[in-house]
Amino acid sequence: MLGERLTKRMKHLAKWGRRQGISCFRLYERDIPEYPLVIDWYGDPETEDLAHEGDAVVWFHDRTKDDTIDDSIAYRRDVEGEILAGLGIPRARMHVKHRGRQRDDDGGREQYERIETKAHLKVVQEHGSRFQINLSDYLDVGLFLDHRPTRLAVRERAQGKNVLNLFAYTGAFSVHARAGGAARTTTIDMSRTYLDWYAQNLYQNGFGLDDAHQSIPADCLQWLEQGPQDDVRYDIVICDPPTFSNSKRMKADSFSVQRDHPELIKQVSRFVAPGGEIFFSTNDRRFEFDEAAVPTGFGAHEISHRSIPEDFRNRKIHRCWRLAEGWTPKRKRPSSPDA
Ligand SMILES: C[S@@+](CC[C@H](N)C(=O)[O-])C[C@H]1O[C@@H](n2cnc3c(N)ncnc32)[C@H](O)[C@@H]1O
Repeated sequence: MLGERLTKRMKHLAKWGRRQGISCFRLYERDIPEYPLVIDWYGDPETEDLAHEGDAVVWFHDRTKDDTIDDSIAYRRDVEGEILAGLGIPRARMHVKHRGRQRDDDGGREQYERIETKAHLKVVQEHGSRFQINLSDYLDVGLFLDHRPTRLAVRERAQGKNVLNLFAYTGAFSVHARAGGAARTTTIDMSRTYLDWYAQNLYQNGFGLDDAHQSIPADCLQWLEQGPQDDVRYDIVICDPPTFSNSKRMKADSFSVQRDHPELIKQVSRFVAPGGEIFFSTNDRRFEFDEAAVPTGFGAHEISHRSIPEDFRNRKIHRCWRLAEGWTPKRKRPSSPDA
């Protein structure tokens, strides 16, 4: 059943992806309750046969009905067989992840830590831009697929703009901003590893770093306190912070998106150019946007209904708001589609 489902989905999505220069997408997301899995497909960008030439990343989730270890092993074996048959790929092209087991005993492992050193790297494509991913060494591969439409929105409005990418991870938003003709980009993350990865992503697309396009290893919260040099103002800001962090590299003891988003957005708004905009996003499932977080002179509306890609069944994978300087809704609409 699972195998057949995958074959069918792949047929549809490979065609859909090829039309748009997308080689990586969410193939399966708990479609069949009996198989509570998530499968992402990272196709080889140059292939003629996107449906078969690629790598599947499989996220297992425990099933309550599997009482014993033997049950779990039998289930896994069954699933792996169905995936290999359904997609027609060899075992080496299936990469199994398991969120639960990859955490340490007290659940304290940081989501962004390295967990392997195999360096199983490959390049994938999204709307014609190229991204290096790492299939083996981290919990996440280096490209969060759920933000594909938001990245496209940034790319489409970036021409000549000054773009600030906060909590940038591997810089995918910045790569799209560059592809869209951004005049300046500033990309900030506190992880040097991810900023090196960003440099690699730029290189994959024929871009580099210079005075106009900077990569800054810093605690975003601390950087915002000081602000940019020379009274720089940004036309587009991407702000996609973690749900929670108590990293020792931060000045503050901890960051909680729920608790701290009003202050964070207020700080960001100080550096937005007239008519500029902020894309604020979170993966916190229980998040409630505090209307008091909308800075004076800004309008805000939630755009999650269009920022979540059509290949994602989970319509709550993230929530995203557009806050625009000088924008006020004409009438009360919960979600205006002008992003
Ligand atoms: C949710 S991910 C951002 C995803 C990214 N916007 C994207 O779409 O690919 C969080 C990132 O924030 C970084 N990070 C967490 N706390 C930070 C802080 N205080 N300052 C700078 N970066 C931080 C992590 O290193 C990680 O790369």
